Amino acid sequence: MARTIIEPFRIKSVEPIRQTTREQRQKLLEAAGYNLFLIASDDILIDLLTDSGTNAMSTEQWAAMMRGDESYAGSPSFQRFKDAVQSIMGFHHVIPAHQGRAAERILFSVMCKKGDVVPNNTHFDTTRANCEFTGAEAVDLPTPEGLQPSLQHPFKGNLDTGRLEQLIERVGAQRIPLVMITVTNNSGGGQPVSMANIKATKAICGRHNIPLYIDACRFAENAYFIKLREPGYSNKTPLEIAREMFSYADGCTMSAKKDAIVNIGGFFCTNDDKLAQAERNLLILTEGFPTYGGLAGRDLEAIAVGLHEALQQDYLHYRIASTAYLGNHIAAEGVPIVQPPGGHAIYIDARAFLPHIPPAKFPGVALAAELYLEGGIRSVEIGTLMFGKRDEHGVEHIGPMDLLRLAIPRRVYTQSHIDYTVEVILEVWRRRDRIRGLELTYQAPFLRHFTARFRSLG
Ligand SMILES: Cc1ncc(COP(=O)(O)O)c(C=O)c1O
Repeated sequence: MARTIIEPFRIKSVEPIRQTTREQRQKLLEAAGYNLFLIASDDILIDLLTDSGTNAMSTEQWAAMMRGDESYAGSPSFQRFKDAVQSIMGFHHVIPAHQGRAAERILFSVMCKKGDVVPNNTHFDTTRANCEFTGAEAVDLPTPEGLQPSLQHPFKGNLDTGRLEQLIERVGAQRIPLVMITVTNNSGGGQPVSMANIKATKAICGRHNIPLYIDACRFAENAYFIKLREPGYSNKTPLEIAREMFSYADGCTMSAKKDAIVNIGGFFCTNDDKLAQAERNLLILTEGFPTYGGLAGRDLEAIAVGLHEALQQDYLHYRIASTAYLGNHIAAEGVPIVQPPGGHAIYIDARAFLPHIPPAKFPGVALAAELYLEGGIRSVEIGTLMFGKRDEHGVEHIGPMDLLRLAIPRRVYTQSHIDYTVEVILEVWRRRDRIRGLELTYQAPFLRHFTARFRSLG
């Protein structure tokens, strides 16, 4: 086997990316108040802000889009979409939505009420927000291993089943309308969940008559990690593994912007007829008729093809190997990362990278700014800016960790782009002592990370 990771595709349509000079980037950074959300994407060379909706579609997906039937009701595109989802996930009811958070809003609106509790390995931020919007409490139950960035463990995304049982004991099963498992665990570093953990969680849910739902955004990447790491699965195909994962669940939510390899879309599924009816009624109110749910027929076609492409073994091999390559090459030089490398992203521990910058001076934001300045790379801070808070006395309440996420869009960048990214990170690593913190000069009342502005303390 050759060691070079080759992309299992060739390129038919290209999109230029623009080189800028260091001086230009310095000016752009200052004008954006050191917040990379405020820089135009034309001024970015390698954009690792997110893997959500930033994917490249295949020739088969583009061809399927031309087949898209835009009938308001009963479109054959919906039928093809539904068949594709059911062939992998097996649920009785498949309901399209414009993206994952719309699916979450409808699911929680129908299932949850004030005083309820919804456990998850780790709620993604839109999942938490939609759950709490109904008055329910969103509870994270990661395992202790999942909370130690440098620890090597094959399934750091697992849900802590011991704590789940204690929670059910404490609050009572009647207050828990559903349990969720997010695969892979995005907020926990893109770490996978084992089949054994999904099975054990289902067994607990079954004993208490609580339905289990999967937040399925990165189901294909999770299936491939099970194939690579869990005994008994090495000879199974990713499709067989995905089918088994979903066989333990009563339904799912899905952002198709991830492992359906499209730019927009989502859906949700359930085996519960009554629930599906209530969900469709709500869907009509805000998303659209149940055979399009806020999407065009062509979007449904692209999702139908993409779901199966995401399960192709050569694609998953390249995807996981390429993300790991980035992580392993920087870790080998001492860069502290969340270990082992996740499926869709590498998370650098910015507090450990820049120990001389206190968390209240935003080491994650400073590091993101530095990677942009050095090489035009856009990443995102997941730390004190995102999860911390400045109170009315100007005191900064810091987040639990200061991470920098480099999320890899699917099929977009080549091996040389990844090599370049490694080079840039290592150059910044070599001169890390000279990087200075940042002072927050503006924050919005909520979701401050999108619009915050900073002054350099350098
Ligand atoms: C685990 C997880 N759940 C839900 C969502 C929400 O999906 P969307 O952005 O399509 O609303 C995301 C998006 O990043 C996610 O990563």
